[in-house]
Amino acid sequence: MSEGVEAAAARSVEESGEAGSPELWDAAGRAASAFAALRSVLDRHVVAHDEVKQALLLALATREHIYIEGPPGTAKTRISELTAQASDLEFFFYQLHRDTRLAELVGDVVLERRTVDQGEQIHQRIEPGGLLTAEICVLDDVSRAPGEALNVLLRILNERRFGAQPIPLMTAIATGNPMDDEYYNEPLDPANLDRFALQLRVHGLVQTAADAAAELIDRFASGEVVERPEPVPVIGRAELDAAYSLLPSVAVPRPVRVALLEFLRSLVVEHGCDETNSLLTDRSFLVKAVKLARARALLDGRVEVGLEDLDLLRWMTTFRVPQEVAEIVPNLILRASGR
Ligand SMILES: Nc1ncnc2c1ncn2[C@@H]1O[C@H](COP(=O)(O)OP(=O)(O)OP(=O)(O)O)[C@@H](O)[C@H]1O
Ligand SMILES: [Mg+2]
Repeated sequence: MSEGVEAAAARSVEESGEAGSPELWDAAGRAASAFAALRSVLDRHVVAHDEVKQALLLALATREHIYIEGPPGTAKTRISELTAQASDLEFFFYQLHRDTRLAELVGDVVLERRTVDQGEQIHQRIEPGGLLTAEICVLDDVSRAPGEALNVLLRILNERRFGAQPIPLMTAIATGNPMDDEYYNEPLDPANLDRFALQLRVHGLVQTAADAAAELIDRFASGEVVERPEPVPVIGRAELDAAYSLLPSVAVPRPVRVALLEFLRSLVVEHGCDETNSLLTDRSFLVKAVKLARARALLDGRVEVGLEDLDLLRWMTTFRVPQEVAEIVPNLILRASGR
């Protein structure tokens, strides 16, 4: 295991705490302010949901996919759409439903007449669009899609190609309702959810955040927030590319690597997370976790990962470990990082 972490951190600046040239600090500052502009759009239109907002920015910065699950009316669609609209990227929005067919996701079906020996044939072809040409997509209510379409869809997300053809997709934002019977959806199994590096549960403000609930009422009452304004893009491909190319330069000091390993050890050894009940893959936790931690530092204008950046592991474990373990993950992260 330790080899994986070492390898993932290998390209980082050395771990003395004096990481980074002045140029690197400047570039990190620019990346942080580009993402801060996106964050302020989200804050302007959506009250609370701080973790979802942070995680969406991270997904964009790292080109990972994100899944947001919660009960109806908790701004999942709104916040996903805002993130995509505020980014100057090719955007595809699709609301999945029980009869979703794959063709609807990957473009338009075009019928063509072809002359053959014995006469004419009608030939069906897909004009690539939708998921195949998007740089960012919102897959709304992903859990409503029938299994067959869903499986192919998730494979495209995972492989980032359709057949042999690579697709330009950077980040998919998927939303869904909890897997209870009352929401009439097919269960998304953990293996499918593993396609989403980041996974969050949202809750209603009424139940969990009285102050924020009051603020939402106030904002709507004062007319400060309107129902469906379309934000202008505040971050573009150039800023996203610049930030992405900086990630390998963000240092991952030894204490962070040690804490990450200690956290994984506690899940496996102390809390019985194994291959039968959890999805703690090397890809996600030895590679993507490091990338996400780097992005978290960068979005904060830093060029070195700190122990506090490991808090993002909460958003990686939501559906990858048994629920009772997921609930204590914040404590396990604190303990592993000696905080
Ligand atoms: N925290 C919030 N801040 C601002 N507006 C909110 C908030 N919560 C809910 N709303 C309002 O409620 C509407 C409903 O939210 P939205 O449609 O995004 O919910 P959802 O979580 O996608 O629900 P569903 O699961 O039914 O699709 C939003 O468009 C917005 O007007
Ligand atoms: Mg919705």
